[in-house]
Amino acid sequence: MASQGNSQTPLRSSSWFAAEGRAGVIHRSHMHNQGFANDVMDGRPVIGIATTWSELTPCNAHLDRIAESVKRGVWEAGGLPLVFPAMSLGETLMRPTTMLYRNLLAMEAEELIRANPLDGVVLLSGCDKTTPGLLMGAASVDLPTLMVTGGPMLNGKFRGRDVGSGTDIWRMTEQQRSGEITAADLAEAEICMARSNGHCMTMGTASTMACVVEALGMTLPGTAAYPAVDARRFALAQMAGRRIVAMVSEQLRISQVITRESLENAIMVNAAIGGSTNAIVHLLAIAGRLGLPLELEDFDAIGSRIPLLVNLQPSGEYLMEEFAYAGGLPAVLAELRPFLNNDAMTVSGLSIGDNVANAPCHDRRVVKTLDEPVMPAGSGTAVLFGSLAPNGAVIKISAASPDLLRHRGPALVFDTNEAYHAAKDDPNLPVTAQTVLVIRNCGPRGYPGFPEVGNAPMPAKLLNAGITDMVRISDARMSGTAYGTCVLHVAPEAAAGGPLALVRTGDLIELDVPGRRLELLVDEAELTQRRAAMTPEATRFERGWIRLYVDHVQGADQGADLDFLRGASGPGVGRDSH
Ligand code: FES
Repeated sequence: MASQGNSQTPLRSSSWFAAEGRAGVIHRSHMHNQGFANDVMDGRPVIGIATTWSELTPCNAHLDRIAESVKRGVWEAGGLPLVFPAMSLGETLMRPTTMLYRNLLAMEAEELIRANPLDGVVLLSGCDKTTPGLLMGAASVDLPTLMVTGGPMLNGKFRGRDVGSGTDIWRMTEQQRSGEITAADLAEAEICMARSNGHCMTMGTASTMACVVEALGMTLPGTAAYPAVDARRFALAQMAGRRIVAMVSEQLRISQVITRESLENAIMVNAAIGGSTNAIVHLLAIAGRLGLPLELEDFDAIGSRIPLLVNLQPSGEYLMEEFAYAGGLPAVLAELRPFLNNDAMTVSGLSIGDNVANAPCHDRRVVKTLDEPVMPAGSGTAVLFGSLAPNGAVIKISAASPDLLRHRGPALVFDTNEAYHAAKDDPNLPVTAQTVLVIRNCGPRGYPGFPEVGNAPMPAKLLNAGITDMVRISDARMSGTAYGTCVLHVAPEAAAGGPLALVRTGDLIELDVPGRRLELLVDEAELTQRRAAMTPEATRFERGWIRLYVDHVQGADQGADLDFLRGASGPGVGRDSH
């Protein structure tokens, strides 16, 4: 029976392909209809390549070519590569929000990996939720696993200047609303923003998660930043194919790579790159899958020690293409070595410290030093607590207006995102620069699905008065490409009975980011009365995935995973019914 290299444990796939009798014949014979040579099921490691390729997910539409490069490497190293599809989640088209389906992708990936004769897995992802969804599912199975992210698009170019995905859409659509640019200008910009394959090229959620998984040690060094169309990405994919075969031999599993130490490294990197607040939710969920301790407070305690080093939109100037040319994440990790858990293992077989020991930086305008950062330590994500957020809320300081970080003002409350959008252009909206905009029922359970609506567009009345930012509070998420003084992920969410549900228009709210507080300035007796007068809403969802999701989704502060999917599981080989 084939064994796993240094260990004498039989290959997991041998339970299928080395089986005797009818079961073994069935397992092997149908595989031959793909034209494989007789000896490919001779006990070599079987490598699954999970791809979220889809033409409905433009960011992942080139993953079929990445898969071919991975296959090349697997064959070279003596493995048998088998590509299989996993649910693809495209931010731009899916309704109501891809986040509703992240856990479904994770469930699907977990079940597919466990149910099939795989010894190791390569995960191909790109668009925002495909990276955490695949990794969560694979973490629950815990085979030797390696990720290849799809890479960012080339820079957008519009009338001689760079335009960043997401960030410039938010900016230019607001400029059109205020009359600064015309609809024709916007239409021209529209086709200049996405010039090549790849995911958003700002430091939005996709780029953030690509950097975060590299910091976790789950990709080969340098994978995050190369543009999707750069030949070096395909070379890295080929090397990933070679490496996963070796990982099977070494039995280097996810649980040996993703540890408390590597999670801390990921938090530090998220702070250094000015990463998306969405990384918080996804890292909490990934940690939950592995049964690792990670709290919302960790993101502030660990991240606040790290200055912003990467000068990329939306917190800075440049885009992922320049980041790649500057040295990519290895250049950042090299700078962070005084802080990192340098001994954390990575899929390369080396520690993260060894991976980047000699990593160069080629452009200090893009990747700054600890001595001269883009912004000082403490400008990343702050975690707030208080009477309005007993289980926490987050705010991305680098995306906020400094003069609003300490603010007290009257609430203007909307029960739904749709209600706000219907009112936002009303010239008589009772809103001033002091107003605190509250939009609720946008959390995991309430929407349902936890959409990226926390960066609500500014009311037209304020925009027309030249006011471009205000305090916005919600139980929603925000796109990683967005900016503004937006308090997000308020927990418990309104639909789970959080105090956000009790706020009324006119109530005073106090935001104190330096003090890490978010307070609803209404006395407890009044809140008790309001709570008693509320009637719980009956479920609106009778069947299918949404019903399962609503019944079991956890709060943002726990990663918004399903409650029954937390905790370590394992690979198993299942029962054979043949
Ligand atoms: Fe896919 Fe931004 S829309 S990464």
